[in-house]
Amino acid sequence: MENIVFYFSGTGNSLKVAKSFSKELENCEIISMTKPYILTKQYDSIGFVYPTYFWGLPKRVIEFIENVNLDNNRNAYFYSVTTYGGDVGNAVYQMYKLLHKKHGIKLNYGQKLQMFSNYIIMYDMSEKIDEITKNSNEKLVPIIEAIKAKRNNNINKLTNIFGFVNKSFIKKVSTMDKNFTVNDNCTGCGICKEVCPVKNIEVENNEPQYSHHCEQCLACIQFCPQKAINYKNVTQNRKRYTNPEINYKELSKYNNK
Ligand SMILES: Cc1cc2nc3c(=O)[nH]c(=O)nc-3n(C[C@H](O)[C@H](O)[C@H](O)COP(=O)(O)O)c2cc1C
Ligand code: SF4
Ligand code: SF4
Repeated sequence: MENIVFYFSGTGNSLKVAKSFSKELENCEIISMTKPYILTKQYDSIGFVYPTYFWGLPKRVIEFIENVNLDNNRNAYFYSVTTYGGDVGNAVYQMYKLLHKKHGIKLNYGQKLQMFSNYIIMYDMSEKIDEITKNSNEKLVPIIEAIKAKRNNNINKLTNIFGFVNKSFIKKVSTMDKNFTVNDNCTGCGICKEVCPVKNIEVENNEPQYSHHCEQCLACIQFCPQKAINYKNVTQNRKRYTNPEINYKELSKYNNK
């Protein structure tokens, strides 16, 4: 039996979770949702792991689910897990609805997992990385058990306000990189380019240039070793966060597989 888990991740939380599933399930591939993928095999289980963005799904995840062909895998066990910082909104139900609407597939198990909250544009990064990571690792254990046992659960629809907030984010997200600035501390190392999951960055004349198909995953801001990338004038004095178990080389390796 073979398994596959699809992921989208900016700062590594969701990749860490996808890796945990892959480790616990037999023969489980890990595939990024940033580019189209053709399923050539029949899988026992198919999973989706992604961060909550504005109470819903990241744009690239919506596009991936809309376009992937699942016709030969209708009998697989489908599960999804969204990682989030404070409030998940509709991010579980939205996946359930999308799979049903586009593919007529019922999500067997949808779950949320609270992890470190990385949205540096709105607030400073917490200093409690160890404590938050320990808590999320504990909460991950029963989720893995449920997936291994192929459990089903009820996925409840939440209020429409959540859907509205996500939709307005999706509409404008691509060009929000116009608000990113790069200061003189930039060394031209290219790490921002390597970690960008959607290849939205080129380094020209030793400085990143943005192409305006951004997902606002914040990997470039968070991974830059010089703290040279900022959002307008709000993030300059804020701490940075990346998942302690995922370094930039690993993130880049999985994104470019
Ligand atoms: C653009 C953006 C929007 C976010 N919106 C939410 C949100 O609505 N609710 C929430 O709890 N966390 C939100 N977060 C925090 C992330 O969901 C959380 O930190 C997630 O685990 C990051 O996963 P990653 O490391 O795989 O990118 C947001 C983060 C980003 C970058
Ligand atoms: S990661 Fe930072 S220092 Fe390196 S090229 Fe990008 S902006 Fe410059
Ligand atoms: S440009 Fe930065 S914020 Fe936008 S998708 Fe790439 S890494 Fe993420």
